Amino acid sequence: MFPHTAFFTRQLFEWYDPDRRPTPWKGEEDPYRIWLSEIILQQTRVEQGWPYFEAFVTAYPTVHHLAAAPQDEVMKKWEGLGYYNRARNMLAAARYISDVREGKFPDNYEDILALKGVGPYTAAAIASFAYNLPYAVVDGNVYRVLARFFGIDHPTNTTSGKKLFTELAQTLLDKDQPGTYNQAIMDFGALVCTPANPDCASCPLQIHCKAHREDRIDQLPHKQPKAPRRIRFFHYFLLNHDGKILLRKREHKDVWRGLYEFPLLETEKLLEENQLLQQHTDWPFPVHWAPVDIAAISPPKRQLLSHQDIRARFIEIHLPKSTDPATISGTWVDREVLSDYAFPRIIDWYLGDNSLYLNM
Ligand code: ADE
Ligand code: SF4
Repeated sequence: MFPHTAFFTRQLFEWYDPDRRPTPWKGEEDPYRIWLSEIILQQTRVEQGWPYFEAFVTAYPTVHHLAAAPQDEVMKKWEGLGYYNRARNMLAAARYISDVREGKFPDNYEDILALKGVGPYTAAAIASFAYNLPYAVVDGNVYRVLARFFGIDHPTNTTSGKKLFTELAQTLLDKDQPGTYNQAIMDFGALVCTPANPDCASCPLQIHCKAHREDRIDQLPHKQPKAPRRIRFFHYFLLNHDGKILLRKREHKDVWRGLYEFPLLETEKLLEENQLLQQHTDWPFPVHWAPVDIAAISPPKRQLLSHQDIRARFIEIHLPKSTDPATISGTWVDREVLSDYAFPRIIDWYLGDNSLYLNM
């Protein structure tokens, strides 16, 4: 259906040199470590993921070590990587492998894909790297390289696009060396056929590359525009009482599940100080002291998630000594040990900016 498929695969192998882009998981044979690296590398660049990978294999050299770790400890180690569902799913999968499978990592594609947090891309990567099974990886890098080389206009972020690119990728895969082929196309997409300014001048695929010939590199891969992010307005109350601050853990099905935060008031619009005071009956904790007083209020901060745009304001409240802390639900934590808890990034920013104030 597409021309030059054999050329594509041959040239890719010709180009590939594992030393061009050394990473700690390249050549790794332990499926547990391969799995760990691939979970970390989902939605994370190699340079950013590398130290996290090192930290995890050092702290948890086997799946049993990871399975035995407390959730809070794992979330803390994950802090800064984002997409915290990955960490929760990783821990659940580790416990399943350790307990139910007695540590034996699944060794076929379907069982790997059935692990929590493992999608088709990660399953193909693990199956090919750990067991040399013939499954081609398909991710943003692969879409880009294939869309350009074969000049494919079809949007990649649609069901039909995914199918088309997956079938083509599977055709191109070298069935004798699927692991090497997959690593080669990942490296090629990261080093040569990059999103901006690909190195066409030294590209071994250039003579048959359709996007290059037709001068359409900037247009490919093509994506269908996606829905705008949902904007949400958060008001976080830092309740100070006797040197402690109140934390609550996010347990419900929403962003940041498993992370800590302060008592939260979410509204349809961002509220100014006087509006907050007027609406004090809505505050996310009982207010029975008078007069109600705000010690400090931050300008709004912003955190972009993949589907949400969160604007948060931080409100410092000093509770009178006479307040009984037990009447407010949550965990009272000494300000000095706040950094032991895993927070959403927006809260880390606030605490970082205001460390002097908090330590007063
Ligand atoms: N992204 C996801 N998996 C990867 C890998 N094994 N090497 C480089 N980048 C990756
Ligand atoms: Fe990518 Fe340029 Fe090579 Fe085409 S010629 S595959 S656009 S690097």
